[in-house]
Amino acid sequence: MITKDELEHYLYDADEEQLEALYSEAREKTIKVYGKNIYIRGLIEFTNYCKNDCLYCGIRRSNSSLKRYRLEQSDIIDCANEGYELGYRTFVLQGGEDLSFSDQDICDIVYNIKSLHNDVAVTLSIGEKEKTTYKAYFDAGADRYLLRHETADEEHYAKLHPEEMSLTNRKRCLYDLRDIGFQVGCGFMVGSPYQNPDTLYQDLCFIDELKPHMVGIGPFISHKDTPFKDEANGTLKSTRILIALLRLMNPRLLIPATTSLATIAPNGRELGILSGANVVMPNLSPVRFRELYALYDGKVCMGEEAAQCINCIRERISDIGYEVIVDRGDYKA
Ligand code: 5AD
Ligand code: FES
Repeated sequence: MITKDELEHYLYDADEEQLEALYSEAREKTIKVYGKNIYIRGLIEFTNYCKNDCLYCGIRRSNSSLKRYRLEQSDIIDCANEGYELGYRTFVLQGGEDLSFSDQDICDIVYNIKSLHNDVAVTLSIGEKEKTTYKAYFDAGADRYLLRHETADEEHYAKLHPEEMSLTNRKRCLYDLRDIGFQVGCGFMVGSPYQNPDTLYQDLCFIDELKPHMVGIGPFISHKDTPFKDEANGTLKSTRILIALLRLMNPRLLIPATTSLATIAPNGRELGILSGANVVMPNLSPVRFRELYALYDGKVCMGEEAAQCINCIRERISDIGYEVIVDRGDYKA
């Protein structure tokens, strides 16, 4: 585990050469475990209804200017089928916390995807639930669960979320998921309002303690219809540093180069990979709904059909000497 001084050094004092050395060390560690293979996950954003009101998020319930949508189960299955043809072997079902999907609905969707394709992994990313619910998802065939912790500092958590949400419950969920047997992903936004080296260091300590299989981090990007509309965005540099430090902490970790990173820099995804990321999550949602799933402003890849997006990504990744592979992309234990 790195020290807080080291973290501050990289964030504030390190020169270009030292940063390049950090990225290159992280890259080498990744290659030792995963080679130059990049795993792809097809992201299906199936509902933008959300009962929560996170201050940073564009689909928060109090954003009344947003048109809401939810996909039918058959649309979700169609996305997965299309994705399968394109070479995806993991589907990530992501949505706001939408109570009109019952636990049984989610189980049915997972079960149906897994019955149609026996060589895929299904990842859920649908927020905080009771342990019994998580267990039901797992028994229906869900393999992985993404739930970013957002920040491991209580006070910071309270500044990003409404009163009814708590870091305690968020952590409870993550530990329940791990207990049940999911491959678990946590994560946070880099440069979120009120974040500082202390809160970031707590994030790293929490990750060290939870020992997740995946960690998703990307820059915070302000959204015009949220209380944080005038806040500064996170940067490419600090995101790259944190990706690299996570990689040094655990060479086996699955770390995505996120869409938010691609949004703040034209070659953000590539630079994420070149600092130790090994996963990308292109969008498989129907194009007509894409812009309604705007967690932040300016999101890239909004107009491209699934096939265009994956081809573009394949090419960009091969241009930096890596290869997108057809594989479930499980954590290498
Ligand atoms: N900027 C960047 N990331 C965001 N997320 C939500 N809102 C924003 C934003 N404004 C991230 C959160 C959430 C994930 C699905 O997207 O970390 O967990
Ligand atoms: Fe989606 Fe280029 S990455 S279109």
